[in-house]
Amino acid sequence: MKEKLIAKFAEVFGDDKDVQVFFAPGRVNLIGEHTDYNGGHVFPCALTIGTYGVARKRNDDVLRFYSMNFEELGVIESSIKGIKPEKEADWTNYPKGVMWAFGEKGYEIPCGMDLMLFGNIPNGSGLSSSASVEVLTGAILREFFGFQVSNQDLALIGQFSENKFNGVNCGIMDQFAIAMGKKDNAIFLDTADLSFEYAPIVLEGAKIVITCSNKKRGLGDSKYNERRAECEEALAQLQTKLDIKALGDLSEEEFEANVGLIEREVCQRRARHAVYENQRTLKAVAALKANDITTFGKLMNDSHTSLRDDYEVTGIELDTLVEEAWKVPGVIGSRMTGAGFGGCTVSLVKDEAIDAFKEQVGKTYLEKIGYAADFYVVEIGDGPVLL
Ligand code: GLA
Repeated sequence: MKEKLIAKFAEVFGDDKDVQVFFAPGRVNLIGEHTDYNGGHVFPCALTIGTYGVARKRNDDVLRFYSMNFEELGVIESSIKGIKPEKEADWTNYPKGVMWAFGEKGYEIPCGMDLMLFGNIPNGSGLSSSASVEVLTGAILREFFGFQVSNQDLALIGQFSENKFNGVNCGIMDQFAIAMGKKDNAIFLDTADLSFEYAPIVLEGAKIVITCSNKKRGLGDSKYNERRAECEEALAQLQTKLDIKALGDLSEEEFEANVGLIEREVCQRRARHAVYENQRTLKAVAALKANDITTFGKLMNDSHTSLRDDYEVTGIELDTLVEEAWKVPGVIGSRMTGAGFGGCTVSLVKDEAIDAFKEQVGKTYLEKIGYAADFYVVEIGDGPVLL
């Protein structure tokens, strides 16, 4: 892989003098969806698929970018000086956003660079290809310019760039899961204070299967910001009586006793999801620690129902994949993962049921939706590395 990438770099940029090759993973969230901007818990893990970056410093201010995933766009050029988001800059707004964010945090980048990317995460799949590119860029800048930043800082800088440069008000989950990834472990993260714990995922006789709906996110980003605003509205109304900082501070009982403070019915449902999903995540991690994978799976299923009915971020594609998965014997749990509005589902499937799972879910999906889904049996990997 490394040699092939370097050869491609030489073909695109003329030679491969002084290049280094980096990798940052994608992520999948097992449970705890749309809780990270509500001061709740999440339980994601990094994957062994992700984004490769071949990079070298230049002697001038020029930035040259090339993506093997968007070859039709060719080499996209700009300058390290005066970086700002531009529509024509297309995907390069992600690495450029991180360069800009380092500058904002006081880490001046002294020169330009050539950067070629190759991602083996399906684009627009909701496995965080953008956060993967952000953390990758941060890892490259740290290595090239000796910036004293931790992996957790890379996550925060990545999120800052996504929020302020690319205009998506995302929480910290994706960048954190990617920057802090640990092989065979999920990360139990409290987004209220960033305290976290690694939890080994030992699935005896079962695997994590990601099913990609191949529905592109489209309007996803604006809907995402809308959900976030609805949660903020609910929180502000709860705060007129309750001394809480976030929806994640509430138990189910406290929420039900005070839900009447929230004026709009739609905001009540959004907040109900945020509160219950946070509590489900706590229960799921406790079940996992007690080796009770059946309960863990059931909580994943409940998570999907809540995202479908109360949070309304699923849609016919994700619902079809999940509801069909629930029917397959040997499926421990199945739910949408990530922001929703398209993207992927995550399922825990017993080894002997994986073939039947792919066949049955794949067939029904194709019949009902009109195009095929893709299946990936995935492994949990480490955070960013210099290869
Ligand atoms: C996206 C965001 C995350 C998180 C999830 C939903 O992936 O980037 O911060 O909010 O959606 O859980």
